[in-house]
Amino acid sequence: MITRISTEINAAKKALEEGVAIGIPTETVYGLAANALNQDAVESIFRIKGRPISNPLILHCFDLEQARPYFLSFHDELQRLHEAFSPGPITFLVPRSANVPSIITAGLDQVAIRFPSQPMLRALLSYLEFPLAAPSANKYGAVSPTNANQVKEQLEGEIPMVLDGGPCIFGLESTIVGMVDSSVVVYRLGSISLDELSIVLGYIPTVQNHADLQPLVPGMVKYHYAPQTPLHYFTSNQKPMDHSGYIFLQSIPTEFNPLNCITLSSDGDLREMGRNVYKALLDMDAKGYKALYIEKPAPEGLGLTLLDRLNRATAKFKA
Ligand code: TXA
Ligand code: MG
Repeated sequence: MITRISTEINAAKKALEEGVAIGIPTETVYGLAANALNQDAVESIFRIKGRPISNPLILHCFDLEQARPYFLSFHDELQRLHEAFSPGPITFLVPRSANVPSIITAGLDQVAIRFPSQPMLRALLSYLEFPLAAPSANKYGAVSPTNANQVKEQLEGEIPMVLDGGPCIFGLESTIVGMVDSSVVVYRLGSISLDELSIVLGYIPTVQNHADLQPLVPGMVKYHYAPQTPLHYFTSNQKPMDHSGYIFLQSIPTEFNPLNCITLSSDGDLREMGRNVYKALLDMDAKGYKALYIEKPAPEGLGLTLLDRLNRATAKFKA
């Protein structure tokens, strides 16, 4: 099978209706999508990704109306966040209805639902009679793709097509929120920052950032977002080394050869850094360096999300 990159929404619709998994654009990262109500199609997602079946999937719906058959209740606090940020990069953990196949939630009694804003995906969702189950379109544990080519590189021959909606505008996964008692809890830091949530809620939600952390199956990959090339944090007094690649946040220090360096945002803009970080990791990974070094972002706003991902990506290579 050759993996085709295409902008044909109709071809995507047809494949999904036939129970085939395909790559889709979202505003966060590219997804590996299938009909959430088709058991075989959903199983193929796990197989293609190499992901343990115990790790649940997010339902992608056009709007709350399309999602209604799949949840029992949607707490007022979550509704406020929904009004503020959907469609967009936020995922809601809500009590699931019996219409949700248990493979989607790994048997848990809550289901994760989000309402993407990417225009091509919204058009596709509006034509479909079922929600899409879609994890990020990377192999399990690897860096999430943020453009169609990077999906093709990771999943070549395993899916017939990637719907090409251009580069992702956020570049980091959705923020996952749920309720504990009557307060919002953040289960995964993401493209909507804690500050943005706090402004709407009037309080800072607790972070129980374990969504991607739990090694749900003993012996399975414990690390996420990691390139193949060993990745470490750059330390400020570090000198340039041979055969090493460097990812700087804003500017390249004078003694470094720019050919071995990349910057995430010359304006020092966190949004832009978020948009570029996975692409930078995948691009640098392909260059055959012995090691990669990345500058650490400050723990503020979206910087918290960046730090979360980079802590996990570097953890794999800690001695
Ligand atoms: O931005 C995103 O959310 C992207 C795009 C493609 O939409 N999707 C994504 O999916 O990041 P995935 O599968 O790579 O990450 C979803 C996370 C997983 O860590 C999973 O464990 C958690 O959400 N999750 C999904 N359903 C859950 C549930 N019912 N209870 C607890 N955690 C859940
Ligand atoms: Mg993922």
